[in-house]
Amino acid sequence: MSWKTLDDMDLNGKRVLVRVDINVPVVDGVVTDSTRIQRIVPTVRDILSAGGKPILLAHFGRPGGERRENLSLKQLVPTLESAFGAQVLFAADCVGTEAELAAENLQPGQVLLLENTRFHAAETKNDPELAAGMAKLGEIYCNDAFSAAHRAHSSTEAIARLLPACAGRLMQAELEALEGALSAPKRPVTAVVGGAKVSTKLELLGNLITKVDYLVIGGGMANTFLVAKGLNVGKSLAERVMKGTAAEILAKAEIAGCTIVLPTDIVVADKFESHAPHQVLPADQCTDDGMILDAGPESVAAITEVFAQSRTLIWNGPLGAFEIEPFDTATNAAALKAAALTRSGQLISVAGGGDTVAALNASGAAKDFSYISTAGGAFLEWMEGKTLPGVAALEE
Ligand code: 3PG
Ligand code: MG
Repeated sequence: MSWKTLDDMDLNGKRVLVRVDINVPVVDGVVTDSTRIQRIVPTVRDILSAGGKPILLAHFGRPGGERRENLSLKQLVPTLESAFGAQVLFAADCVGTEAELAAENLQPGQVLLLENTRFHAAETKNDPELAAGMAKLGEIYCNDAFSAAHRAHSSTEAIARLLPACAGRLMQAELEALEGALSAPKRPVTAVVGGAKVSTKLELLGNLITKVDYLVIGGGMANTFLVAKGLNVGKSLAERVMKGTAAEILAKAEIAGCTIVLPTDIVVADKFESHAPHQVLPADQCTDDGMILDAGPESVAAITEVFAQSRTLIWNGPLGAFEIEPFDTATNAAALKAAALTRSGQLISVAGGGDTVAALNASGAAKDFSYISTAGGAFLEWMEGKTLPGVAALEE
């Protein structure tokens, strides 16, 4: 690996601009999963104990270049303070006079959090001027946001060229773990790709089929494939306009020798609601007003059989509507099987993505996985072998 780490930098007395990903789920002002915050603690602590002054740069949600109070990073200050065990000051913009003064006056032992970088439309355009405004605030740039490294944005890419740059502890850990497990994986390799975001992952699926032996497709995405196979999915979440693309992926997989595993039985409910009345049906018998909310028991048996034959498992996305009971059944059962196979040394299991990690935590499977990544999209793009702009910029 050809990038510098914090160990290569002289941090004493220096203002260190740290790009973190604290894009955590918040419900009614309460952080519901602080995993991403916990995982940046080593970086912040190491900078502080080396006498450096951490200045955190981060995005939050997708405000689209507008200042939106509900997407202000200010609400995370208490959670950050308790995670770091340090005082966290806040500047209401990530560039400009207020931020510059706050950075200048930062005292050893304190952390400065800058407002959501995406309040500037220029951020997502990788604008060099915005990056220069940010770079003015620090003397060293440290990127610890592996999970945002697939974005070429001012705070992840352009800025890395303007200051001496290095990878943070989490960035380092993510790259080392993924490289270790997946650069020359033990075969057979199985990927599980699920979740609701269909169109964003179809391209990834197209690439994965050339790399993995089995591809298990779950969640709303599976419904799009069922449509491509000419099946009725009733009122289920599905991107019907993508059915041509899905059909192409099925054909390409066959040529590539990748076995695609789709549900053969489905859990069909009347509505998207926890404990909604539901029945298990063969995959070709969804009712016209039914919604497929999970894979059925026969599908789970087939998936766990694939796991048992695999040596490496990569998991991104739940198999069903895991957030409402009992439609988390397939996800939990498959996750627990993967955990057991990992425990007994038969499987290397790597999972990533906010929903996935939440589901694996809920089932108790996460602790037995070989590695849990904080990244979703970046994790998938890394798996595909794509260059992540945030990582590439550190290498230059
Ligand atoms: C994420 O939550 O996946 C990362 O923070 C990246 O966010 P984005 O998908 O809005 O770029
Ligand atoms: Mg995302």
